[in-house]
Amino acid sequence: MSRDYSLVPRPVARVKTKYRQIATDFPVPESLAVLRTLQEIEPIAMRGQPPVIWDHADGFQVYDRWGNCWIDWSSGVLITNAGHGREAIIDAVTRQARSGLLTNYCFPSEIRARLVARLASLLPAPLEKVFLLTTGSETVECAIKLCRTQGLRTAGREKNVIVSYEKAFHGRTLGSQQAGGIPSLKDWIVNFDPGFVQIPFPDGFRTEDVSFAGFERALKEHGVEARQVAGVILETYQGGSGAFAPVEYMQALRAWCDANGALLVCDEVQAGFGRTGTMFGFEHYVIVPDLATFGKGISSSLPLAAVVGRADIMDLHPPGSMTSTHTGNPVCCAAALASIDLVVRENLAGNAACMGAILHGELRRLKARFPQIGSVDGKGLVAGVACVKPGTKEPDGELAWNVIERCIEKGVLLFSPVGFGGGTIKICPPLVINEEALRESIGVLEEALSELV
Ligand SMILES: Cc1ncc(COP(=O)(O)O)c(C=O)c1O
Repeated sequence: MSRDYSLVPRPVARVKTKYRQIATDFPVPESLAVLRTLQEIEPIAMRGQPPVIWDHADGFQVYDRWGNCWIDWSSGVLITNAGHGREAIIDAVTRQARSGLLTNYCFPSEIRARLVARLASLLPAPLEKVFLLTTGSETVECAIKLCRTQGLRTAGREKNVIVSYEKAFHGRTLGSQQAGGIPSLKDWIVNFDPGFVQIPFPDGFRTEDVSFAGFERALKEHGVEARQVAGVILETYQGGSGAFAPVEYMQALRAWCDANGALLVCDEVQAGFGRTGTMFGFEHYVIVPDLATFGKGISSSLPLAAVVGRADIMDLHPPGSMTSTHTGNPVCCAAALASIDLVVRENLAGNAACMGAILHGELRRLKARFPQIGSVDGKGLVAGVACVKPGTKEPDGELAWNVIERCIEKGVLLFSPVGFGGGTIKICPPLVINEEALRESIGVLEEALSELV
């Protein structure tokens, strides 16, 4: 469900607490000129996020220029794992920019060497090689290319099927959209590549059968034989709901991929770097994929992404054939190195696990109180609250939207609803959030829900 926010300012209650301040009407009357310029000159498809003009952000708080301050439950869009505006990241970026090296294509650089070595040192075997890119979508494209190349090399042209999951989001480029499982986002493609199939994701709510038998049954229904599968790609948790697959399912999938010469790819663009309470999301499954893709929280700031994988897979293509103009941009590398240092040194995965226990406990309590909450999913500092029509699994996008708008008016910032039917409220604060601010912001969600239902 997509919807636009009204640009007619309306009075909202003023708020002043230790962590939040709402001092104006909403949207802020003085912000309308900027909002209107964006509406006039950008495509309509860029609309859809709350009309809050960020001025600066610090830790887990976002500020505008007019005296408003929010507890941030967005992290941008799960970018700022180490927190907003961290001095260490600003210093690293500034130092690199001042060095005079702002870009150098794929020419070797010391800082790129430092970053790939740092990433490799954090990853479990056999994830040994690292290829830097700019966006998450590109990493997915690259993973698809590597799966199909390996399929071709090991078993010929028939081994080219990429299996992925319904309701998955892997990006907005042609290949990543075909791997995605949201039909409305890819209507425009028309000529679908028959080598992409999506099967139900075992979330336990919308797909009740979470057994691995469901995987094999779904392949059969698509007329796909195991020998044809080049790769299976999944978000480590589904971004649209926050749902993880059962551990047993993932271990069976790992074994199935090994038995059938298919590569297992975890799209960690959202899950990586501490978000779920472990450094990498796949650790929850006690498996290691053949390839993993990263973005967003890898730098907590500038655009940088990475594909990591088994050396034999990452080395399938010859010199000069996996490049990108901004691969390993030195300023982005500096940001990523500084952010990773913060995530490790401050044990932000540990904080995500501790704060996540509070968050998920409280959300379960809200689910018991409000029949409009159909499911609560996620781990660590990511949660998806699915709004439904009470007594059904039918998504209630209208309610999700209204709750988010009400929270923002009260000083808790979220991005617009996501997921099936646009009914999921996604909660993903920077991993530096403290217990006091977390409990205060959950109180705001509860207040908004009780005012609206
Ligand atoms: C799991 C996942 N994969 C890939 C992407 C695409 O990343 P990007 O927007 O950087 O292209 C996203 C973005 O939301 C994502 O959540």
